[in-house]
Amino acid sequence: MAAELRIGITALMLALVLSISSQFLLVTASSSPQDLQILNAERRIDLTSHIIRVFLTLKIENTGEAPAAEVLLAFPPTEVDRLALVKALVPAGKQKKKTYLPLDVKPTELPNAPNGAKIFIITLHNPLSKGETATLEVLYVLTHSLEPFPAEISQSESQLVYYRDSALILSPYYIKQQTTFLKTPSNKVESFTRVESTNRAGTDLKYGPYSDRAPYSFSPIIVHFENNNPFAVVEELVREVEISHWGSLQITEHYKLVHAGARHKGVFSRVEYQSRPSFSGVSSFKNLLARLPPRVHSVYYRDEIGNISSSHLRTDYQKSELEIEPRYPLFGGWKATFVIGYVLPLQDFLFESPDGRRYLNFTFGCPLADTVVDKLTIKVVLPEGSKDPSVVTPFPVEQRLETKYSYLDVVGRTVAVLEKKNIVPEHNSPFQVYYNFNPMFMLAEPLMLAIAFFLCFVASVAYIHVDLSLRKS
Ligand SMILES: *[C@@H]1O[C@H](CO)[C@@H](O)[C@H](O)[C@H]1NC(C)=O
Ligand SMILES: *[C@@H]1O[C@H](CO)[C@@H](O)[C@H](O)[C@H]1NC(C)=O
Repeated sequence: MAAELRIGITALMLALVLSISSQFLLVTASSSPQDLQILNAERRIDLTSHIIRVFLTLKIENTGEAPAAEVLLAFPPTEVDRLALVKALVPAGKQKKKTYLPLDVKPTELPNAPNGAKIFIITLHNPLSKGETATLEVLYVLTHSLEPFPAEISQSESQLVYYRDSALILSPYYIKQQTTFLKTPSNKVESFTRVESTNRAGTDLKYGPYSDRAPYSFSPIIVHFENNNPFAVVEELVREVEISHWGSLQITEHYKLVHAGARHKGVFSRVEYQSRPSFSGVSSFKNLLARLPPRVHSVYYRDEIGNISSSHLRTDYQKSELEIEPRYPLFGGWKATFVIGYVLPLQDFLFESPDGRRYLNFTFGCPLADTVVDKLTIKVVLPEGSKDPSVVTPFPVEQRLETKYSYLDVVGRTVAVLEKKNIVPEHNSPFQVYYNFNPMFMLAEPLMLAIAFFLCFVASVAYIHVDLSLRKS
């Protein structure tokens, strides 16, 4: 088994190395970046939450001779570590029946990119021929990109943050026309970098339009503004999903939550907090919303002290919402550790694939709304006797196998462990775990129970027997 696994891993690494090097070859072999240009680029940066979402619309033209199937996106090296997700879509269909098709996006190495810019490749379904244009919609999400300044605030102060970016869109291509819009959560903008063509009205800040910018143009900007949204960050989340072929899916989630905003300074006054809620602790948060699947039951919420009763569950046929309230409101730098558990009906999540294997179809990510997870681990505990698990995820995820022993298990259960860093709500999409299952194992648990009863019975009979024989003599 261990040997098989090792061979599997070696094969996997080999495949990975090969795919990386083939990607690399593709980049160098395909049409050079100079053969594409951006006719028009529009970037909208949403700064209203602590999770930053950037929507980029690019109108691209192939000015070269050869067909172009790849479009490159560039990011400053400092942004790459905080980049949780990059998605690209291409509109398809006519005006009214317009739909968007997802495109494949992969990071790559481009050794000659200036200033250490990091490159992602978007692969088009239909290569652009000479002179042809296409419009791409790109979404990327950044975490930990708002720096509280001041770094410490008292209970009565509002939270101010810095956001750093460039007024010009970083790109390996020549950009004919471009504009950048930033949206702040409130009108309270302390300061912002003024460069050529900067405009501000209320919560909207505009840089541009700029025309005819060379590849890799950059113009740093800083915006200093108020943001009192809950900076809810789960430093570590472990979700255990246990499949029981007796009809249920048992979920247990361990959270290590922190308020990642400006650190709280001075003493906390609960009286002031409760009597002046609109002025006191505006950047703190006291409840969290977990979105759970419909038909959830046996929900509990506890911390190291014990059960916490302040949670409310609302359910309808489409979803369930669990509102939880930690024991104290969370201020900047404060932490809370807790566990949420619940049970779901198995038939909503376990299916049979056409090839006869069983599979779990469950949602990746974190159920808490508007939350960043620094490190997520999902452990899918398969029923005893399951074999050959294979995992299908919509994005790359680290995977390994473990064995879990619980009481009444004969050979232990296979656990598929998935790990990923820097998780945002956009990662909440379905993943599958396929496995083979021998129904004979359904009998293992009752058998173990029967054996246990039998042994007890034999033991007690023996005891009585000994007892009786002792008395006789
Ligand atoms: C906590 O809640 C769970 C589930 O509702 C229950 O089974 C358990 O007995 C409770 N524990 C305490 C200490 O109240
Ligand atoms: C998994 O479930 C989602 C809905 O939650 C559904 O759209 C998707 O098709 C399912 N995938 C598979 C492979 O069954």
